[in-house]
Amino acid sequence: MIFGAVLAGGSGTRMGGGEKPKQYLNLGGKPVIIHTIERFCELPEFEKILVLCPQNLIDYTKEIISAHLSDVRVDVIGGGLTRNETLLKALEYIEENYGINDDDIILTHDAVRPFVTRRIIEENIKYTFEYGACDTAVPATDTIVESDGGLFIDTIPERKSMFQGQTPQSFNVKKLAQTVRSLTPEEEATLTDACKIFTIKGLPVYIVRGEVTNIKITYPFDLKVAETLLNERD
Ligand code: CTP
Repeated sequence: MIFGAVLAGGSGTRMGGGEKPKQYLNLGGKPVIIHTIERFCELPEFEKILVLCPQNLIDYTKEIISAHLSDVRVDVIGGGLTRNETLLKALEYIEENYGINDDDIILTHDAVRPFVTRRIIEENIKYTFEYGACDTAVPATDTIVESDGGLFIDTIPERKSMFQGQTPQSFNVKKLAQTVRSLTPEEEATLTDACKIFTIKGLPVYIVRGEVTNIKITYPFDLKVAETLLNERD
């Protein structure tokens, strides 16, 4: 099976306090999260589209989805305290409800990246079947400097080998479940990124080219950019 997982369990603190997290903010007449789910619903390849949201917003999320969409493939479930925990909830749900088959794949995507394109999603599907895992990234435009304490530069890696990660991040479900279970507590503590679960174990992760427009809405400024992008697209 091909699963989509829209990760919407975050609290959006960098957006500043609002009544609800940023994935529920209005963008051109509907909540950000609805735009994102629609991008997934456009592809018939998905057999299930899981939406993982904060536990206390499950009913609300179901309500807004049924107000805007009528796609029986969408299931709403509770997320976890961290992004990786939310991803694990998706895995548990799949295992409990569908079992895990050798060639099942899951495309995980930030609910706050509503401009993901069909090409990006299709390439994630294609290359996850081929290599077992995919990340989506764009070549870095700024020079990246590495600094442990943030005061002095330790190293300046060559820009041409630097990329900026986006989503989807996609995985063979069985490999992901096995790899997660094989992590030591020390490894778990360093996992800030889902693809790192694979790279830390020496498994290949193919890079699908993202788009500069595949922005993540993080700060209030990003919502303004999103409005501009939406107006240009329409
Ligand atoms: N996410 C999630 N579960 C969490 C944390 C984050 O599903 N426990 C999701 C967010 O809802 C978002 C994506 O992962 O769609 C990227 O999260 P990010 O914007 O980095 O974090 P937030 O917690 O949403 O925001 P902030 O860091 O500003 O608090």
